[in-house]
Amino acid sequence: MAHSGDDWWRDGIFYQIYPRSFQDSNGDGVGDLAGILRRLPYVKSLGVDAIWLSPIFPSPMADFGYDISDYVGIEPLFGTMEDFDALLGAAHDNGLKLILDLVPNHTSDQHPWFVESRSSRDNPKRDWYVWGDPKPDGSAPNNWLSEFGGSAWQFDETTGQYYYHAFLAQQPDLNWRNPDVRAAIYDAMRFWLEKGVDGFRVDVIWHLIKDAEFRDNPPNPHYVEGRPPNEKILTQYSTDQPEVHDVIAQMRRVTDAFGARVLIGEIYLPLHRLIAYYGNDLTGAQMPFNFALLSTFWSARSIEKIIEDYEKALPKGAWPNWVLGNHDRPRVASRIGPGQARVAAMLLLTLRGTPTLYYGDEIGMHQLAIAPEDVRDPFEKNVPGIGVGRDGCRTPMQWDSSNFGGFSEVRPWLPLPEDHIHENVVNLEADPRSILALYRRLIAVRKTCPPLVSGDYHPIAAQGDLLVYRRESAGRAVVVVLNLGPDPIAVTTSAVRFGSEILLSTFLDREGEKLEGVLDLRGNEGVVVSPPPHP
Ligand code: NOJ
Repeated sequence: MAHSGDDWWRDGIFYQIYPRSFQDSNGDGVGDLAGILRRLPYVKSLGVDAIWLSPIFPSPMADFGYDISDYVGIEPLFGTMEDFDALLGAAHDNGLKLILDLVPNHTSDQHPWFVESRSSRDNPKRDWYVWGDPKPDGSAPNNWLSEFGGSAWQFDETTGQYYYHAFLAQQPDLNWRNPDVRAAIYDAMRFWLEKGVDGFRVDVIWHLIKDAEFRDNPPNPHYVEGRPPNEKILTQYSTDQPEVHDVIAQMRRVTDAFGARVLIGEIYLPLHRLIAYYGNDLTGAQMPFNFALLSTFWSARSIEKIIEDYEKALPKGAWPNWVLGNHDRPRVASRIGPGQARVAAMLLLTLRGTPTLYYGDEIGMHQLAIAPEDVRDPFEKNVPGIGVGRDGCRTPMQWDSSNFGGFSEVRPWLPLPEDHIHENVVNLEADPRSILALYRRLIAVRKTCPPLVSGDYHPIAAQGDLLVYRRESAGRAVVVVLNLGPDPIAVTTSAVRFGSEILLSTFLDREGEKLEGVLDLRGNEGVVVSPPPHP
C-alpha cells in the first residue's frame, strides 16, 4: 500500500553514492557531480527512489569531505553550483529524490567560523566551538578520546586553551549549546531545502551535545585488545546526552517546514538508545539509521534476533530501516562472502523498513586490500595496521573492463581491484543471472508486492542456516526462505505449502516454480515464495 506523498521515504529505497568514487568526468581521478549526472540513468535503472550523496561541500579533504569549510557551497573538485542544480533537476525529472549529507557536529579547522573562534578568547565566535582550560599540569581538560586515535583535545598555542575534536584535529566540534551555532546550521539547511533537496542524512547526530561539565568518561571494562584505542573508554559524557533530542526536534521542524522531506540520523548506539532518536512522539529523525546488519554474526538465529529485538523496540508509529553497507564499514561481499552477498540482498530488500544500499554492493564489489603507499584514510594513517582503514570500501565504481574501470581516464585517487575486468556493470548487465540482475529483480519484486513494502513481519523459523519469515498485508502474504550457509537444505516448514509459487530465487532460475512438497534450497540460496490462497 503506497503511503501519502509526505511519507515517500517509507516506501522508498535509498542508494548511497560516495561522490569521490562514482564517476570522474574531468580527468582528475576523483569523482564529481557531472559524473553522477552522467550515470543517473544507471541509478534510475536500478529502481531505487532516492540518492544520498556523501558531502559535496567545500572541504580541505582531511576527512574527504566530512571536514566542511563552507556549508552552502560546492567543493570545486566536485564541480560548481550549476552542476549541483543540474543534478538535482535531473534527479527530480527522473523521479529520484536527492538527500544531502549534513555534517553539523564539526567543521573544518579552515572554516571561517573556526578561524575566527581561535583568533582570540574574546572573539564573538569563540563560544561557537568547544574550548576548555588546561588542567594545572597543562594537560587536556579531560580524558575524552578522538574516534580517530589520541586525545580529543588539541592545544591552541595562541589562546592557551584546548579545543575538542571528536574526530581529527582538523575537525573541531561546534558548540551546539550555543543558539547562534544552531541558527547558522539551520540557515544552511534552509539554503538547500529551498533549492529543493529532499532531506538530510545527519552525520554523527548522537555526538552533537556534550556534557556541560566535561566530566571524565569511564573506562570500558569490555575493551578488547586489538580494537581501536578510543574504545578503551566509554563515551558516557561525550555523546548521546539527553539535550540532543531538543536539537534534533528543532532540525526536524526546519525540514518539516518544507513539506515532504526526510531527516536521517547516523547513530551507532545500542538498540535501546538508538530508538530514542525517533524523538518524543516521533518528533526526532524519521530514520535513525539501523546498522544492526553491519555487525551481526551471520547466522539465522542472530539475524532473527536482531530483527525481533528491533521490531519490538520500535516506538509506536516509528518506521524501521535497514542498512547493509556504507563508506565506513567493510563491504558486505567481503564480510560474509560473495555467495551470501546475494542472500543478504534478498534479506535487505524483503525486511520491513526502508532499505539503504551502498553504491557498488549491487555489483558485488568487495573490500580491497590497500597497499601502504595507497592508504588515504586518515583513520588508517592514525591507527595503522589493525584493520580500521576505510579506503577498501571506497574504491572507484567498476563500470567496465577498461584500465580504470570506466571510472576515470587517469589513475584514480584509490586503486581498483584487478577483478574489475570481470566484475563490472557492463559485464554483469550482459549476464541475466548476475548479482546486478538480482538486485534489479529484488527491487522490482518489492515494488510490485505490497506485503514486502508495508506488510507486517512474522518470524517463522531460525534453525541452523535456515531463516524463514512471512510478510503480510491486507490478506496477502509472501514467505522469505533464506539459506545462510553453503550446504543444501530441504525445507519442510508448513509455511511453504504445496502449491506455493517461487517469485524469485537468488540464483534467478526458479521463477514461477510450483512447490510440490519439500522446498529444496541450494547452498547460499534464498527464495521469495507466494503461498497459495487458503482453501
Ligand atoms: C561519520 C562519517 O560517516 C565518517 O566517514 C566520518 O569520518 C565521521 N563521521 C566524521 O565526520
